[in-house]
Amino acid sequence: MAMGSSSLSPCVSLSPSLSPHPKLPNPNPNPNPNLFHLSHPSFNPIPLRFNQPPSRSKKLLSPNAPTFFVAASAKAEPLKVIISGAPASGKGTQCELITKKYGLVHISAGDLLRAEIAAASENGKLAKEYMEKGQLVPNEIVVMMVKERLLQPDSQQRGWLLDGYPRSSSQAAALEDYGIRPDVFILLDVSEDILVERVVGRRLDPLTGKIYHLKYSPPENNEIASRLTQRFDDTEEKVKLRLRTHHENVDDVLSVYKDITVKVNGNVAKENVFEQIDAALTHVAEQRKVNSGSIAA
Ligand code: AP5
Repeated sequence: MAMGSSSLSPCVSLSPSLSPHPKLPNPNPNPNPNLFHLSHPSFNPIPLRFNQPPSRSKKLLSPNAPTFFVAASAKAEPLKVIISGAPASGKGTQCELITKKYGLVHISAGDLLRAEIAAASENGKLAKEYMEKGQLVPNEIVVMMVKERLLQPDSQQRGWLLDGYPRSSSQAAALEDYGIRPDVFILLDVSEDILVERVVGRRLDPLTGKIYHLKYSPPENNEIASRLTQRFDDTEEKVKLRLRTHHENVDDVLSVYKDITVKVNGNVAKENVFEQIDAALTHVAEQRKVNSGSIAA
């Protein structure tokens, strides 16, 4: 617990990892109930979180600041994960498995855009023009949409799993500008011939949102099979355009996250892909526990 102050909550936090851009108004002034500013006169009033490595946390304190010892029972911050990969590399499939085990909020840029299309909004109409050509939807639509979803209370409380964003250096820069950085960047690596086969055979259940593949993940029964739908951009011709867009941008995005990238072999069965991801996330979660339990600033 804290020493030098009698009013410290055990949920002190040492990292402004989801703070709004300093030049923009904060749309969510108190997004995390675990966040607070200390009132000690010598303390620099920056929101503090538990999971910050000691070296950086020390920079937040003035020389006369009180010393704080973090209780071993400190609640670790929820995980923040980005999953990336070529079209049909299995991002959505893995997100189903990850959210089931880790309880993270799944935020898919593609799903958000398809929801706009289904709602026949102006953004949706514009987005569809780009999606049909396998191109990136303009940042004016995508960036705010994703950012607002990341700032929702459920994403901040449960942690998030961002799927299909960022897809360009400008989108990655926008996240960095907002102070939004993942703990880990998972890259699904799948060979191109497999990608085309996965796209063409993909089907979706509009009732449950579950992803199927006619060969690799067939529907459980005839009732489900009869209601499956296919995405308008899931043709061999369109996936080639989507792949080209992916290749044009992927290196720029990777360069932003190279220190936290975990490359996963996505060519194997989905259960085996998940084993690799699960091992990576378990490792990250354990590291965070060690960090949050050992901080003495
Ligand atoms: P989006 O919806 O994100 O599409 P995508 O990136 O092309 O990826 P997919 O959803 O097609 O595939 P996935 O990797 O999720 O694979 P899945 O798990 O379904 O984006 C669509 C469009 O929206 C973009 O082209 C762009 O226009 C726009 N857009 C999106 N984000 C944007 C952004 N940030 N900025 C601008 N524009 C944006 O699996 C595929 C199939 O394979 C399934 O049938 C599945 O059952 C099967 N499968 C999965 N894993 C395995 C496995 N291990 N073995 C066998 N089969 C498997």
